[in-house]
Amino acid sequence: MNWKLSSYPLPFLLIILTTVLHHRLTAALPLSTDSRWIIDDGEFGKRVKLSCVNWASHLDAVIAEGLSKQPVDVISNKILKMGFNCVRLTYPLFLFTDKNLGSITVKQSFLKLGLFDAITGFEVNNPSIIDLPLIKAFQEVVASLDRNNVMIILDNQISKPGWCCSDSDGSGFFGDEYFDPDTWLTGLTQVATMFKDTPNVVGMSLRNELRGPKENVSIWYRYMQKGAEVVHATNPNVLVIVSGLSYDKDLSFLQIQPMSLTFSNKIVYEVHWYGFSNDEDWKNDNANEVCARVVYNITRRSGFLLDEGYPLFISEWGVDLRGTNEVDNRYLNCFSVWVADHDLDWAIWTLAGSYYIRQGNVEMEEFFGVLDWDWRKPRNSSFLKKIAAIQSPFQGPGLSENSQHKIIFHPATGLCVQHQSFLQPLRLGPCSEAEGWDYTPNKALTIKGTNYCLKADELGNNVKLGTICTDTSTQWEPISASKLHLSSKINNGEEVCLDANSENTIVTNTCKCLADDNTCDPASQWFKIINGTMGSRATRMYSRIDTVLWSLGVNLFA
Ligand SMILES: *[C@@H]1O[C@H](CO)[C@@H](O)[C@H](O)[C@H]1NC(C)=O
Ligand SMILES: *[C@@H]1O[C@H](CO)[C@@H](O)[C@H](O)[C@H]1NC(C)=O
Ligand SMILES: *[C@@H]1O[C@H](CO)[C@@H](O)[C@H](O)[C@H]1NC(C)=O
Repeated sequence: MNWKLSSYPLPFLLIILTTVLHHRLTAALPLSTDSRWIIDDGEFGKRVKLSCVNWASHLDAVIAEGLSKQPVDVISNKILKMGFNCVRLTYPLFLFTDKNLGSITVKQSFLKLGLFDAITGFEVNNPSIIDLPLIKAFQEVVASLDRNNVMIILDNQISKPGWCCSDSDGSGFFGDEYFDPDTWLTGLTQVATMFKDTPNVVGMSLRNELRGPKENVSIWYRYMQKGAEVVHATNPNVLVIVSGLSYDKDLSFLQIQPMSLTFSNKIVYEVHWYGFSNDEDWKNDNANEVCARVVYNITRRSGFLLDEGYPLFISEWGVDLRGTNEVDNRYLNCFSVWVADHDLDWAIWTLAGSYYIRQGNVEMEEFFGVLDWDWRKPRNSSFLKKIAAIQSPFQGPGLSENSQHKIIFHPATGLCVQHQSFLQPLRLGPCSEAEGWDYTPNKALTIKGTNYCLKADELGNNVKLGTICTDTSTQWEPISASKLHLSSKINNGEEVCLDANSENTIVTNTCKCLADDNTCDPASQWFKIINGTMGSRATRMYSRIDTVLWSLGVNLFA
């Protein structure tokens, strides 16, 4: 890395600098789509990456969870502090279509459920909301997110309030007991109308997790097209987010027949991916093989949409944040690679550290929740560090496209391979400060703009940077079923794999867990060469420019 500041004119540097700074600030709304990217409304149509957290407001009490524990603005602020820029706020359809439900107050709703402690906590934390009708209380939560500059996606999670979802809950598919298509269209119109003038409401999810015995592709087209049209006609600003069949895991039918709509550049597809969907596979089989199979499946069922020019929003994913569920841990590494590689938009399940009541359990703790039981602190700050890389965009329109490069992502830590100086070994560090690499046709990984390439040394040793980039110890080949091992050959022809040791130093070791074995965890050796545009160059240059300008007496932050 040898940026010579003197060789660049100051105005050019300032443009880059403001681009970098602007990225951290807010997007110009409304959002729309440009092929597979979601972009803002600025002059250059810059990419906006949705890094959302689900906030449930569809359970029995029909009020956003957590308001008995913390003031609404405090929660909105915590969401931003944890690195999310958006909330997928869920609601039950009947909140908007059943006047009797929408008009009872929060307090009455809790009283009906016998939730006296919730009332006490709510009176302390959100006294101005407790006596509002449920529909007004929902508006207050949206208003809080809006004023705190959190983007909002309104998601119709279910019809009748309660935990979602099952095949037999009467809310699974058009024509089910609680799922009359006309009532649904009326509800969508109400929601679209109510939040038409709330700028940060950037999207509406038509319906969560269609499912159950009545599922039918031709009926899917009939009503999802109608739903998309009424939302767009009522509020042409919002992204219209469309879910598939089989609990939002299957959009494969779109390969045969696209949706027929009167508008474009506003459609986003959503998909869900949890570890428990492949519980047995992760338990019983080799992690490389399972990751390869699951990614193959998800690509066939929804990932293909990226190639067809639509954004794909992973609107639900998540893990037990205690880190004790082995299936979840393995899934998470595979999931992170896929999301980083395609640089997808997503919403994690869930914000809630606990629920007022879920499935009959009062104040039930949620171990998937990013906040702890009393909504005070992050449940697991090391998890938040691990997902920080996928909270920021790696690529996309408007992100210094003239500096395309590769970065080497390590999913087990959420970090990337970094070269700080020639005095230190290569290490894992934040992807935003990672090295930009070129991956050459002869499989050398060279630091962009230099002649230095990644070179395997003896087994167990730190990897080096070499300048002769033609021998086998400088050729890196993705191997194993997952293609997530980066292997090379050292002098005697022995195959080694890139690895990160417990100090996060990059070494080579014997390739491990390549196949069959279901007991061993390959994750320390999982690396993925992904496309980046932001990365180190922008960030480091920014800090250097900042230093230079500072020394010249220019304070950009004043
Ligand atoms: C799906 O619905 C269409 C239209 O109502 C109907 O003709 C068709 O038989 C249904 N398909 C299945 C598999 O039930
Ligand atoms: C892949 O999808 C098929 C159905 O399309 C399913 O039977 C199989 O279990 C899936 N496998 C994995 C590992 O997801
Ligand atoms: C956070 O998650 C990690 C695994 O990602 C786990 O090792 C750790 O124990 C968890 N911490 C807490 C406080 O649950």
